[in-house]
Amino acid sequence: MKRACVIGWPVAHSRSPLIHGYWLKRYDIEGEYVKEPVHPEEIDGFISDIAAHGYIGANVTVPHKEAAFRVAENIDATARNVGAVNTLWLQDGVLCATNTDIYGFLRNLDDQVPDWDTTSLPAAILGAGGAARAIIGALLDRGFNEIRLINRTRERAENLAAIFGDVLSIHDWQVRSSALRGCGLLVNTTTLGMKSSSPLEIELNALAPRAVVHDIIYAPLETQLLARAAQHGFRVADGLGMLLHQAVPGFEKWFGVRPEVTRELRNIVLADLNA
Ligand code: ATR
Repeated sequence: MKRACVIGWPVAHSRSPLIHGYWLKRYDIEGEYVKEPVHPEEIDGFISDIAAHGYIGANVTVPHKEAAFRVAENIDATARNVGAVNTLWLQDGVLCATNTDIYGFLRNLDDQVPDWDTTSLPAAILGAGGAARAIIGALLDRGFNEIRLINRTRERAENLAAIFGDVLSIHDWQVRSSALRGCGLLVNTTTLGMKSSSPLEIELNALAPRAVVHDIIYAPLETQLLARAAQHGFRVADGLGMLLHQAVPGFEKWFGVRPEVTRELRNIVLADLNA
């Protein structure tokens, strides 16, 4: 039986087993997908010995995405650009790696707001962590040529600007509302607005008419940011689709079927998030 897992610390909250379990059943595949809590001190050994643990591949989540990047043998260009790995698979005994967050981000927006990529207008990103880095890469792939990066800790924004260059401009957290002036896309990658976190305080008036507002947070599904954006008449995209779509390439690599993100799957994960 083919076995895959999600590696994290902690990993109890991961919805990946629910997603892959749904597909295994739907496509009648004899396989298994489980959670593997791995302590940071043991992560390098675990990943390099993944076959000995009985797995043909894995997803990697917080805080191990950089460790996976360090340990994997054959890393594709997408993961190299992001500097982090979230999907591993064995090919002829070689541990291969990619990052499917960019794919998940783009597919989700394409699904929820088909003409979201108004690249003639600037985009604004809140946050400068790993998710922001992947999303900047995705926006550059789509042809955006002005991205405003707004982060509480300026140094982290500067680190990203050093990687991506002049297309990024850095704006202080205190001026986040005015930094949105004329932007056609706003993406929140901070943790503000999550169920157990503080709210995200920001004024949206300065965004361009018909701007798109996307929150990568999916618990709650409709964050305050998205609710306020909808009140303003902006187009909105929630974060759940990104989670579902980023799982597709991994499943295909491990189990040989390209799975479909269905309304039914979305409802199952949503019910679990609300439980
Ligand atoms: P990930 O790698 O998943 O993107 P992360 O590295 O923990 O996650 O980044 C979280 C983001 O949320 C960061 O940009 C963080 O800002 P700092 O770089 O200043 O830490 C942002 N964030 C978290 N709590 C915040 C708060 N109370 N106010 C403003 N930004 C916050």
